[in-house]
Amino acid sequence: MAWELLPLGLFYLASITLALSEIYFTIKSSKGFNFFLRPFPAVSQSLQIVNDFYNGKFYRPWAPEPILVEPTRKKMTELSESPLLSQRAVYADMFGLRHTMNIAHQDEIKIMRTRSRLYALILSVRGPAQLTKLYPYLQIRLERFLNRELSPVRVHADGSMCLSLAETCRVMASRMMSVMFFGEELTSDPAFSKAIYDHPQHTVRCMALFQLMPRVMSPLVHAIVTRRGAAMKLILSRIMPIIDSETKNWTEPAGLKELTLLHVFTKETQATRDYWTPETLTQALMGLLLAASHQPWVNLHIFLYRLCANPEWQDILREEIREAQTNQPFDYHRLSQLPLLDSFMRETARLVSLDKLNIRRKALKDYTFADGTPHVPAGATVCVSSYDASHNPATYPDPENFDGRRFVDGNHKDSTHRYSDVSEHYLIWGYGSLACPGRFHATIVLKLALANILLRYHIRLEDPQMRSHWMYEAFSMPYESTKVILTPRGTAENFK
Ligand code: HEM
Repeated sequence: MAWELLPLGLFYLASITLALSEIYFTIKSSKGFNFFLRPFPAVSQSLQIVNDFYNGKFYRPWAPEPILVEPTRKKMTELSESPLLSQRAVYADMFGLRHTMNIAHQDEIKIMRTRSRLYALILSVRGPAQLTKLYPYLQIRLERFLNRELSPVRVHADGSMCLSLAETCRVMASRMMSVMFFGEELTSDPAFSKAIYDHPQHTVRCMALFQLMPRVMSPLVHAIVTRRGAAMKLILSRIMPIIDSETKNWTEPAGLKELTLLHVFTKETQATRDYWTPETLTQALMGLLLAASHQPWVNLHIFLYRLCANPEWQDILREEIREAQTNQPFDYHRLSQLPLLDSFMRETARLVSLDKLNIRRKALKDYTFADGTPHVPAGATVCVSSYDASHNPATYPDPENFDGRRFVDGNHKDSTHRYSDVSEHYLIWGYGSLACPGRFHATIVLKLALANILLRYHIRLEDPQMRSHWMYEAFSMPYESTKVILTPRGTAENFK
């Protein structure tokens, strides 16, 4: 009998809650209400929860739907670069950070611009030359990972390994990124290496939970998920003394040391230490580490899944790599100049990318685009559909079909064809001056991972029916449960 009354009880409870919250919001608009509540923090925190609920902050920080602009060059440049449309405010929403939305907050805009310029200078302008020298160190680190650190769920009699695809991609990308950022000495400490792996995972986990919980609970959620920021504290305790000494007391051997992002960022900002204090620099580096952590492994996951779904591409790419290795050193330059590998990666990324929307910005005040539309009210999020841009039949004939040779055979109308290119018809890197500055770093890490795996193993899904990803809002999320079987190739040779 009591169970039968449960739905009715829940209905009354919901009605009372709604009625109380309506009364609360009516009273709240009267002056002096917050002052009156100040001595009762528990009451005011509970009301904050109701407040969050009421304002849709429980879920979808950009509710209702983001406003879409057409992906034309003019519109996207304006979207990307207008100071009234903030990239930082979007990240603040995503990561549950506090953001002022204060347009008078010119300092913040200035700091972000200075930071973006530094990223662009070091990563996209000077990056390729640095990467040429960094390449052998990355190759060595990757070999060490493949030889010693793979963690199979099962090993079969023929030597095949059954691995979690998502976790393998994450660790592999993290190990190579760690060398780029912090060299060998720091990252050879397992605790430091684990912290570099954990920190971005914790941040993303917090980000998801923050969307589901009221804002007042964010500090508690953060403390639990990050174990009171243990990974971040460990990283800072190791890199702060290095930055404080302008890298002089850092014992990383010469050669790799000068190529690490820790060293390059410290040296580049040395002359402006009054602005680039050790704290500001550390924040910039940690922000960069976060930007460099999530996308590469998700993209690697997408590529490896595609190699399983279209196994003929394993042979095609292996053949291209083998040919490139013949009678010449296989270096950064050779790996960057493999047209089929590039075409395969670009076509795969054209079909599935982490985010179906891109160049997300939040309006700091009401904003109307230069040609009159759209009008964006303050607080709304505006962006473009990268999915539509990369599935447009006028640019990509038969757009739903995977055509791995598309960018070698010219079966497209875009003026660019490489994986790392920025184009209005291919938006995985964003567009305009804020387009991802780390794209060359990401590309070499992904190419190295793919080439090494292809030369060593045949790869297949344990369950051929397993789907590639699930959708959370506009995000394509890899399944944690996907397993792959890596079978060593009989005559596999390692890179020379
Ligand atoms: C496959 C891997 C990656 C993809 C698909 C990717 C994509 C993106 C996208 C879409 C944006 C936002 C652009 C915008 O909002 O206009 C972005 C920003 C950024 N990315 Fe990446 N990224 C990747 C890897 C990396 C790596 C490895 C690094 C660093 C080494 C990096 C550093 C950054 C930075 C610093 C920003 C912010 C730019 C700024 O504030 O000026 N990214 N990335």
